[in-house]
Amino acid sequence: MYSTLQRLNHLSSLATTYIMILLGLISIASFLSHPSVNTGNVEIKDLIIQKGRLRRWGARQEELASLHFDIRTDLNPLLNSYNTKQLFVYLTASYEEGSTGNAHEVVVWDRIIQRADIRDIRAVGNKLPKAKAGRKGRGNVRVEAGKNKYQWRNPSGTFKDVEYANMTLHYHLMPYVGVLSSGVAATAQGPVTIPELIKR
Ligand SMILES: *[C@@H]1O[C@H](CO)[C@@H](O)[C@H](O)[C@H]1NC(C)=O
Repeated sequence: MYSTLQRLNHLSSLATTYIMILLGLISIASFLSHPSVNTGNVEIKDLIIQKGRLRRWGARQEELASLHFDIRTDLNPLLNSYNTKQLFVYLTASYEEGSTGNAHEVVVWDRIIQRADIRDIRAVGNKLPKAKAGRKGRGNVRVEAGKNKYQWRNPSGTFKDVEYANMTLHYHLMPYVGVLSSGVAATAQGPVTIPELIKR
């Protein structure tokens, strides 16, 4: 004869096993049916190089890049997946230094898109674009005249040696269960030329 406690114990371990199997199946299923996105557009506007200081005590003067950008991309296929908890999107500049060939990747802007976000993602800018009728959905990412959120500096302190950068909007998909996946959400049309330093 089992005691009540023993029976309860057995039941709960059985339940745990079933739940683990279920979670495993969900993560396999969503891994196999990973939604794909059409790569959207990043448009870089007024990229400038100026002397400045990082916002940090005792920082020395160096060349800093700042920019404005527009982003248009449709991430609804990712957000509509039942297993998507949230998306993390970030804009990077990747470039190489001419003489040394050192490659760098710098994050200049990012944003978290929650499943609970029910409206289009519209980031701060001068003016908001008009919503197109019939194009509803929380995954329509439209950023107008967004600004770099993080300072873009080059480790050498100057951009003299940098000819161009590739600007890419990446995403990380954080699922309820299973592994993180990532991909490219939008890119600029070709490399962006790094301008001359503005002298004051
Ligand atoms: C920039 O993009 C081009 C074309 O996709 C690629 O060939 C090049 O290697 C990229 N450069 C860097 C520094 O990522």
